[in-house]
Amino acid sequence: MKVKILRQDNQNTAPYWESFDVDLAKDMTIAGVLDNINYNDDVIDDKGNKTSRIGWECSCLQGMCGACAMVINGVPALACETMVRDLKGKEITIRPLQKFPVIHDLIVDRTIIHENLKKMNMYIGEYKSVQDKKLKKQEKEHEHQYEAAKCLKCGLCLEVCPNYVDGKSFFGALFANDCYLVSSRNQTRSNEIIQSYEEHFGKTCSKAFSCMEVCPMHIPTLASMAKINRQGFHRS
Ligand code: FES
Repeated sequence: MKVKILRQDNQNTAPYWESFDVDLAKDMTIAGVLDNINYNDDVIDDKGNKTSRIGWECSCLQGMCGACAMVINGVPALACETMVRDLKGKEITIRPLQKFPVIHDLIVDRTIIHENLKKMNMYIGEYKSVQDKKLKKQEKEHEHQYEAAKCLKCGLCLEVCPNYVDGKSFFGALFANDCYLVSSRNQTRSNEIIQSYEEHFGKTCSKAFSCMEVCPMHIPTLASMAKINRQGFHRS
């Protein structure tokens, strides 16, 4: 099968498409396809020309780290979780995430995600055990806190979000989930977090919810939004 990859040597050069003929097995993932292309000492394109290895990132290869996020046949997804058998069409196209600066080939710079979270002090801080009777009511929140905490910070939710633009003040679904997580676990910071949520998510989100469709961890962002809105309502 033909595999077309949008490549870019570095941040200062123009992107270009390169195609490869790959013997695909149905049970291969896209991570396997990229490995297959890179496997030989000489990487050969579909015209028989020698080329360089494809740059891409991975760590866990089991959908747990988010490093391999890219756009596969037009859909933002994790390469290690996307099976060839689930893709339609006669060729596979792979390109880097478009909302982040490209470093090399399929590797993008997602520093902005962590910078935004750091800027808003998005950490849980001191948290008392639920054994404390006053905090007993938080037990019922644990199930959703667990879901929200699964976020990989892979950036797929930002890639599909019509409101997210790199460098602007809207921080996207991953920020909304972290706001819920921090404010529900650290009561002393609730007011501050709810304000940040409004400023960097609530007032701009157009409720497209494509973020929930592509999230590899299936985080129910809508539920996080409902919960944090309820916290804000009870405080106002
Ligand atoms: S390599 Fe970790 S999520 Fe794909």
